[in-house]
Amino acid sequence: MSDLYKSTILYREHPEAAQLVTHLHALSEQQDAQGTGISSLNNQNVQARDFSVYKDKMVALEQDKSELIYAVLRNKKARRIFEAGTSYGVSTIYFLLASQAADAAAGKPGGLPAMVWGTEKEEHKVDAAIGNLAQAMKLPKGTNDIPGFTMLKGDILELTERANIEADSLDAVLFDIWAEMALPTFKLLEPSLKQDAVIFIDNWLTGIEIGTYAKLREYLESKGWYVAAMPFKNGLGMATRHDPALTTNVTIVASGIMSSSNHPSAGTSSTPSSGRTAEWDELHKVLHSTGDSIRRQVVGEEYVNRSLANASSFTMPMQQLATEYAWGGIWSRPGLARRDRSILNLGMLAALGKSTELATHVRGALNNGVTETEIQECLLQVATYVGMPAGMEAFRAADKAVQEWKSTNTAPEPPSKH
Ligand SMILES: C[S@@+](CC[C@H](N)C(=O)[O-])C[C@H]1O[C@@H](n2cnc3c(N)ncnc32)[C@H](O)[C@@H]1O
Repeated sequence: MSDLYKSTILYREHPEAAQLVTHLHALSEQQDAQGTGISSLNNQNVQARDFSVYKDKMVALEQDKSELIYAVLRNKKARRIFEAGTSYGVSTIYFLLASQAADAAAGKPGGLPAMVWGTEKEEHKVDAAIGNLAQAMKLPKGTNDIPGFTMLKGDILELTERANIEADSLDAVLFDIWAEMALPTFKLLEPSLKQDAVIFIDNWLTGIEIGTYAKLREYLESKGWYVAAMPFKNGLGMATRHDPALTTNVTIVASGIMSSSNHPSAGTSSTPSSGRTAEWDELHKVLHSTGDSIRRQVVGEEYVNRSLANASSFTMPMQQLATEYAWGGIWSRPGLARRDRSILNLGMLAALGKSTELATHVRGALNNGVTETEIQECLLQVATYVGMPAGMEAFRAADKAVQEWKSTNTAPEPPSKH
């Protein structure tokens, strides 16, 4: 890299550390250029899941990705950061500096201490990381204890479980580790993540392309995380989850404030004034794209494409409303699994006698892993609590939908009892 790094926040704040990481990134790139680096993710080693070649390689996160992450962490005032895969500690330097800057800015916040966790199984890499961190922090050579840093030395899964990081306390996580480690590590970290935590996933685009991130992606989406894929080398994923209800409130209040001079009740009303603001449009774009994606996952591409193609100019606003408020607003909430939302919908739609919508949600339920037997049980319960005519009508609509679904899909396994 040229001296472009001299215009980064890191350089302005910590010129020596910026020089050190620039040197380390260059070393890592040299190793990479010799054909041993992770950049050749499509190669035979990765397909064979043989990582021994990387045992003594830095495989550091690239400098451009690191700078972006640093900028995000500084803006977020991230104090507690977990790194899956530390190696020689190049990305870790950015994390520690960001965490300490946030801590200094917060004064004496009380509560949990600012902390960065590193994880590394290769002993010599652990030593190298600590040496690099000490140098970046301007600590004396040979310092082993780096304030604000915990090195988890050994296998990540065992260590993450033992580290028992406090619930709802992590601001950010980086997955810079072999792809198959990411999902089990994520599950261990899940209770520790703040609602507004940010997750970075290196090599996201390549991992999606070759399938190694398929399960992680599916899991993240099922839990309401959205992954922005950024086109760095091999891609960088940045996952965040939104609480649409919260975003709606914030945006509506903002819209009220903007019109407060001529509207006495502005700021308290949830109805926007006649002029919709840019924030309003932006919110609807986010809700719509979120809803559209969830709707397609649940009821299927074909169904959604057909509904949109069949919509007239009269019915299109209803399609939009359903996409934004039902699929974007409710189905995206992390508090309930999609399969549970499906079961609820079956009960409600059957009770209301809305057979067309029930058929759609029977398809969605099957896509969300609800079995045919479970659908029967839901509808039998409706017949018992609501009445036989509602049960009969629901069975008729559901039967047709189940048969249609089965003609193009494989039925889900019955759920495990454990
Ligand atoms: C891509 S490197 C991390 C680079 C680092 N984030 C940086 O920017 O300098 C991934 C590291 O994860 C380590 N690793 C792989 N599997 C591991 C496991 N099961 N437990 C702990 N560390 C592991 C590897 O030894 C390797 O050094």
